[in-house]
Amino acid sequence: MVKNWKASMPSSYEKIAYQAPSNIAFVKYWGKHGRQLPMNPSLSMTLSKCISKCEISYSLQEKKKGIISFLFEGKENILFQKRLQSYLDGIEDIYPLASELTLKIQSENTFPHSAGIASSASAMAAFSSCLAKIEERQKTLLTASQRSANDFKRRSSVLARLASGSACRSIYGQYALWGKTKWNEGSDEYASPFTEIHHDFLKLCDSVLIVSSGVKEISSSLGHSMMNTHLYKEVREHQAHENMRMIVAAMKRGDYKTFGEILESEALTLQALMMTSFPSFLLLAPNSIRLIELIKSYRKSTDNPVYFTVDAGPNIHLIYPKKIKKEVVNFITRELLPFCETVIHDEIGVGAREL
Ligand code: DP6
Repeated sequence: MVKNWKASMPSSYEKIAYQAPSNIAFVKYWGKHGRQLPMNPSLSMTLSKCISKCEISYSLQEKKKGIISFLFEGKENILFQKRLQSYLDGIEDIYPLASELTLKIQSENTFPHSAGIASSASAMAAFSSCLAKIEERQKTLLTASQRSANDFKRRSSVLARLASGSACRSIYGQYALWGKTKWNEGSDEYASPFTEIHHDFLKLCDSVLIVSSGVKEISSSLGHSMMNTHLYKEVREHQAHENMRMIVAAMKRGDYKTFGEILESEALTLQALMMTSFPSFLLLAPNSIRLIELIKSYRKSTDNPVYFTVDAGPNIHLIYPKKIKKEVVNFITRELLPFCETVIHDEIGVGAREL
């Protein structure tokens, strides 16, 4: 972060800073419609080490409106500045302050950009939390009911969703659900915390096996848009609802086996959807497959509940209970590391928070 923030701040400016983590989806959000509404419900675990920090110096009195500077890790980043500006322009109807504010933004990630981990969820969750806080400070614009902590998070989650779908889940700690299920639970507009879990699920780890830190071959937006005309669209929707129902039940009763089977099926379904999209994409690399095979045979020979998931890329997330961390880290170092560029050992975390 740039030092001497206060010293360089003109008097009409106030500041706000938030950090937010990345999250890993267990049931995947893939496909959207309307205004960033998900095609199906999803469930994720919030991470603790893969974090974005966002500091904003803002004024309501300056003539020039909009984002007047954006520094990412101390350097100007015009591309991201434009992305944030067009996001702000697009939410003026639901966030009227968007056209009133003058913003100077600084952002940084605690994980290397080349780590192959999507940073848009954490970055957008941190930025949206700042926006929600600025709004909260302009109390006259809010009704009393909007001021409670829960509503604040919900508001942050709505704003985050409009920036990047998966970001709406990063607002909450532990586990978050997003999207209305067939059983009328949840909302498409914002995520909510999933807390009724068995104590065995309170402490999970995610060791991210980085197979390739290169730029993603397919952007999320393109991937989501291909679901609109996907041959398996209806079947996928049905499957995601069923998987939500089953994984939630498994996590409530502490059933690792069912949990793991759904986790891996979701990961491979996402890959299969991309392979059968038009045009098609094959995102797993040869080493991703090696890792999956090694994970399966380790599980078989030890009976340890170690399962994998994958997003829209070649990197493998190894999910397991913290109580067997030492043993699993040994296995990773011994058998998996030779097939990875690097490994990030992360675990369940607390969600967005003010700095
Ligand atoms: C495969 O949230 O990155 O990670 O809404 O277009 O910003 P946008 O997409 P994004 O999609 C993430 C998709 C995923 C699965 C998931 O996180 O649920």
